[in-house]
Amino acid sequence: MIKQTANFIKDKLGLVSPQTAIILGSGLGGFANILENVTTINYKDINGFPQSSVKGHKGELIRGFIGNNEIICLNGRFHLYEGHDPKIILDVIHILKELGIKRLIVTNAAGSLRKDIMPGSIMLIKDHINFSGKNPLVGPNDESYGPRFPSMNNAYTLLLRKKCKDIAKNIGIELKEGVYLMVLGPNFETSAEIKAFQILGADAVGMSTVPEVISASHCSMEVLGFSVITNYGAGMVDNTPSHQETISEANKASEKLIRLVTEFIKEGN
Ligand code: HPA
Repeated sequence: MIKQTANFIKDKLGLVSPQTAIILGSGLGGFANILENVTTINYKDINGFPQSSVKGHKGELIRGFIGNNEIICLNGRFHLYEGHDPKIILDVIHILKELGIKRLIVTNAAGSLRKDIMPGSIMLIKDHINFSGKNPLVGPNDESYGPRFPSMNNAYTLLLRKKCKDIAKNIGIELKEGVYLMVLGPNFETSAEIKAFQILGADAVGMSTVPEVISASHCSMEVLGFSVITNYGAGMVDNTPSHQETISEANKASEKLIRLVTEFIKEGN
């Protein structure tokens, strides 16, 4: 089933040899516009792919180029709060693996837990806390992808992070680095939860990304992750977070992230 779907996608998109895939978070769909020689399929036309029901998530798989680099772009992701089985996310990552993807770039919109990480800024994810209570690896393990008990050391690949920080410095983009905590959602956090997450050592909070990273790390993909900070956590300032704010703030900050990711990809695989 995974291999069949991968072959279908390969044919439909006319894939040659993509090495990098990118998953676009809320309000970050603009990245798709900078790709050249684009081919697209809707998720609904891919057997086994669920629909993304969230506003700001388009639901299409795109093949495009940045320079000579062939990229697969998932424009729209599957969130566990939509009711998807976490295993669906594992399947999608396995499809990417079958397509030859070696490196996954994940992006999301997130709330800040630190006063010095302001809305509009970009946080490079150095590690995560899985506070969702869910895990995509639950169930029988397919040893051909990875071990039953995978290590999550260096899940956010150190070398890629270093390269990215160097590029950010060169092109004048300020990049904070921090720990992303995933909640299941869909409600935003209470102020008591935000205080608790700060004590736990998290720097940003969101409702996605962790299942993709666990799945990708399990099957030995390199991972680079970014949070676009759209708001402060509840209770940190006098503000009520909303999805509308998430999308509009992510749209504003996305120009910086697009520039950074483009440079990163241009520097080669
Ligand atoms: N909490 C959880 N998810 C989010 C937030 C937040 O404050 N902002 C954007 N996504």
